Amino acid sequence: MDAMVASGFEAGGHRGSFLRSAEDSLTGTLSLIPQIVDIVDVPVIAAGGIGDARGVIAALALGAEAVQMGTLFLACEESGASLLHRQALRGKKAGHTALTKGFTGRLARGIYNRLLEELNQKGTAILPYPLQRRLVRNLAIAAEAAGRSDLVPMWAGQSANLSTCTDVSAFLTSLVQEVSEVAGPIIQWSAARRENQIPGKANS
Ligand SMILES: Cc1cc2nc3c(=O)[nH]c(=O)nc-3n(C[C@H](O)[C@H](O)[C@H](O)COP(=O)(O)O)c2cc1C
Repeated sequence: MDAMVASGFEAGGHRGSFLRSAEDSLTGTLSLIPQIVDIVDVPVIAAGGIGDARGVIAALALGAEAVQMGTLFLACEESGASLLHRQALRGKKAGHTALTKGFTGRLARGIYNRLLEELNQKGTAILPYPLQRRLVRNLAIAAEAAGRSDLVPMWAGQSANLSTCTDVSAFLTSLVQEVSEVAGPIIQWSAARRENQIPGKANS
């Protein structure tokens, strides 16, 4: 393995879980990154809730060597997300997300709308993945055509409201510039700390 992606609870879309169930793999990025950095020998890529330069810098300070950002790109003009989805990501409601198995049959995070609320109701039967995805896709096509954002699955992470991206190139240029201005000493400090690290509980 050359590198490891550590994805926190905040992330949009499906949970990546292998050893335990998705429901039992919901550690937040702030707790997850340093604990993984302390026990692996490969570079760690931080994912989940990183929406702007502050998140990137925080991830570097926690020991990550790179970041993976997903949700914030959905709002860009270049994204494959529907117009309804992009509009919702730019609206206030994007500040409220939740986890559901209702979109696809696997646990995923999206904007809290009527569809998510109803699919999450106790007793609602959810088909196994990927059958539920096909079922909901049929509804989403009709809902999108009717302009019904309340019935479209709106994949998004908890930092959706931070997205200021319209043009992806301009966004990335400004992100890289902002991070570069302050990241040098943080990366050096974090690397030095890792080298001098006293084995933690996880190592003993
Ligand atoms: C629309 C969408 C679909 C995603 N689908 C998956 C997936 O199928 N499997 C997976 O492991 N991660 C998936 N992700 C998670 C991303 O790979 C990435 O780790 C995550 O978006 C980073 O967190 P953020 O959304 O807070 O930026 C998805 C993310 C989004 C936004």
